[in-house]
Amino acid sequence: MKYHIKTFGCQMNISDSERIASFLESQKIKPTEEITKADLVIFNTCGIRQMAEDRVYGQIHNIRKQESMINDQQKKKTIILTGCLANRKDVQRRLKNKVDLFCEIKDFQKEFRNWIIGNYLEIGNWKLEIPAQQKNTPCSDYLSINPKYNNSHSAFVPVMTGCNNFCSYCVVPYARGREVSRPSKEIIMEIKNLLKNGCKEIILLGQNVNSYQHMPSPQPSPDYGRGGNSNPSPPLGEMSRTRDREGDVVNFPKLLQLIEKIPGHFWISFMSSHPKDFSSELIETIAKSKKICEHIHLPLQAGDDKILLAMNRKYTAKKYLNLVAKIKSAFAKYKPNKLYSITTDIIVGFPGETKKQFLESACVMKKVGYDLVYFGQFSPRPGTVAFKMKDNVSKIEKKKREFFLNEILKETALGNNQKYLGKILEVLIDKKEGANYFGRTHSLKNVKIISTQKNLVGKFVKVKITKANIWNLEASLYIKP
Ligand code: SAM
Ligand code: SF4
Ligand code: F3S
Repeated sequence: MKYHIKTFGCQMNISDSERIASFLESQKIKPTEEITKADLVIFNTCGIRQMAEDRVYGQIHNIRKQESMINDQQKKKTIILTGCLANRKDVQRRLKNKVDLFCEIKDFQKEFRNWIIGNYLEIGNWKLEIPAQQKNTPCSDYLSINPKYNNSHSAFVPVMTGCNNFCSYCVVPYARGREVSRPSKEIIMEIKNLLKNGCKEIILLGQNVNSYQHMPSPQPSPDYGRGGNSNPSPPLGEMSRTRDREGDVVNFPKLLQLIEKIPGHFWISFMSSHPKDFSSELIETIAKSKKICEHIHLPLQAGDDKILLAMNRKYTAKKYLNLVAKIKSAFAKYKPNKLYSITTDIIVGFPGETKKQFLESACVMKKVGYDLVYFGQFSPRPGTVAFKMKDNVSKIEKKKREFFLNEILKETALGNNQKYLGKILEVLIDKKEGANYFGRTHSLKNVKIISTQKNLVGKFVKVKITKANIWNLEASLYIKP
C-alpha cells in the first residue's frame, strides 16, 4: 500500500501534511513520489482563493479521467480530501463521485480509522493496524502527532491553529475552526528534539501566531482579550496580553522567551501575525532577542479605514503605521547595527474599493517601505460576509492595481536591499542549484552564493554581500583576512 500527498496552500498545510505522512507511515503505508504508483492519494487542500480551489478540482478530475480511460481491471485509487476545503458542503457535493473520504485535518486519524473499519478496507496485503482499545476512542489532538519533517535543517512547528477574527473576506475561521493553542511544554519538547537532530531554524506557525495563549488552568484572564474585554479600546497589540498568574499562562512573547532559552545556535522565526495582537511585550521580546530573526510579517490588507472596517480588521491605517513605527524604533534602540525586514499581505479590489481608497494602500506601502508584499486579488469565498457583497472591481482593474503596487514594492525592496551591500553576514544555506547555493540572512533575505565548496546545505556560513537585486542579494563566501 503506497500513499502520495498533494499539498496546497500555506505553510500550515505543508506542516499538516508532515503529520499526515507520519500517521500513514505508522500504519505501514509507504510513501511514493510518483502519484501513478500510489494506491492512496491525499489532497490537503486550500480554499483561500478560487484559484487554489480550482487546482484541486482539476487534479482530482484528471486522476479519475485517466482511470476511466484505462480498460483493464486496474483498481481505482483511493482519494482522501482533507485541509481547508474538506468541510465545505458544496465541495463535497461537487466531488462526491470522485472522492472516497472527506475529513477535516483535526479528525484525520479518527476519520481514517473509522472509514477503513466501515469499509472493511484491505488493499493488496495491507491492513490497518488498530489496537482493539483504540477503535472507539476519540482522535488524540492531531498537533501532538510526531511529524515526518520534510527538511532536516529548517522545521515548521505549529503552535496554534484556527482563527477567531472572522475578517469578512476570509475562509480560515470556517475551514479551521476556533483558535486552539498547543501546550508550551509540548512545543518546547518538539523543538528540543529537532535541535538534537541538527535542526538550525525553527519556524513557528499559526494562522494568528501572536494570539498564541496556552492556559493550563481553566479560568481565562478577566482583563483584555477574547470574551472578557473590560477596556473597550486597548491600544493596538495589547489585546493579547493576559494576566500572568505566577507564570501559568503562556502568551506568545513568553513562548518565544522560553524557546530562546534553549541552548544552542539556532534561529527562530514565525508567521502570520495579526497587527491587533502585536503587543509591546512582543516587540521588545523580538528586538532584545539574539535568536529571533529580524523579520516581521505584518499583514496590512488595505490602507483605507473604511475598507479596513468592512474587512473587520479592527485597526485603522494610522494605528497600523504607529505599530510599524514602534517596531522600527525598538530595532533602532536594541539592534542599531542590524538590518531588519518588514513584509505584508495586501488584498486589491475588495468589494466597493474605489481608486481613491486603493491609493491609500499605496500610501501606506510608501510609508512603511516593505521588503516584500504578498498581493491577493480579492476572491469571493462562499460562507464569508464579503461573499454577499458585490464583487464590483473587475478582474482587469484588480490586475492593474496589483501591478501598480508591485512597482512601488520594487523600489522599496531594492532600496532596502542596497543597505546590505558590503556587509558580512551569517546565512543559513537552504539548497544548491547548479554552481550556486541559496540561503537566507537572519532578516530572512534571500541570498545567492557562488561557491565551489561542497556540502554547505543546512549550514550557517559567513558571506559578504556583493550585489543587491530587487528580489534577492548576491554574495561570496567570506574568508577572514
Ligand atoms: N492571519 C493572517 C492575517 O491576519 O492577515 C492571514 C492569513 S491568510 C491565510 C493569508 C492571506 O490570504 C491573507 O493575509 C489575505 O491577504 C489573503 N486572503 C485571504 N482571503 C482572501 C480572499 N478572499 N481574497 C484574496 N485574498 C485573500
Ligand atoms: Fe483570515 Fe483574518 Fe483570521 Fe487572518 S485573521 S486567518 S485574514 S480571518
Ligand atoms: Fe489556505 Fe487553509 Fe492556509 S485556506 S492559506 S491552507 S489556512
